[in-house]
Amino acid sequence: MTVHIGAKPGDIAETVLMPGDPYRAKWAAEQFLDDARLVNEVRGMLGFTGTWRGNPVTIHGSGMGMPSLSIYANELIRDYGAKTLIRIGSCGGMQESVAVRDVIIAMSATSISTPSRGIFREVNFAPTADFSLLRAAVAAAETRGSTPHVGGIYSSDVFYDERPDLTEQMTRHGILGVEMEAAELYILAARHGARALAVLTVSDHLQTGEALPSEDRERSFGEMVEIALAAAFPGA
Ligand code: HPA
Repeated sequence: MTVHIGAKPGDIAETVLMPGDPYRAKWAAEQFLDDARLVNEVRGMLGFTGTWRGNPVTIHGSGMGMPSLSIYANELIRDYGAKTLIRIGSCGGMQESVAVRDVIIAMSATSISTPSRGIFREVNFAPTADFSLLRAAVAAAETRGSTPHVGGIYSSDVFYDERPDLTEQMTRHGILGVEMEAAELYILAARHGARALAVLTVSDHLQTGEALPSEDRERSFGEMVEIALAAAFPGA
């Protein structure tokens, strides 16, 4: 047990998928894992461990935003020995070439600040995905017949952004989408020798204002879970 996770030692798999929403963790565990059991419910942040094609997997919520994700990712890595962490979540599209429902695989995650900013001070550290996971995720998406967007995303501290100029600059510099967690996940993985990746579904679009209808969310989310699992276990 840690401060925020009630799981017993050995209850958490080395591979952890992290949706922001704890109910999505429940849904994904029920849909995709065999023998899934609840291993954490402290503060309503649900975590489940089961197997996928015989491989142990935990699906654990991160909450919204980098400070929340940082708490769970720190404890999962440092106290429970998680080695591969894949964020599965939604993002806002920022390029015309990116459409609602598309999958984005985040090679890098730009930010204004992260919970790790105090360590880096004047250094603009470049949070980067693990290449083996990135390559496997692209291959898994292509095997499924989908063409993912692969590139940089923006990890924001705010959902209700008061800086339209910032969105404009991110878009001008080729950033594919905006979400609120990946940069800190990549930084923590780098710090602790773990592997991290973010596989995202475009749920809304900043330029067009289009949004994924709620009945489509589950199906689009499922595609992302399958890509993440196949990336974690390429031979399975
Ligand atoms: N901003 C930040 N995070 C998000 C968004 C957004 O527009 N859409 C989905 N996650």
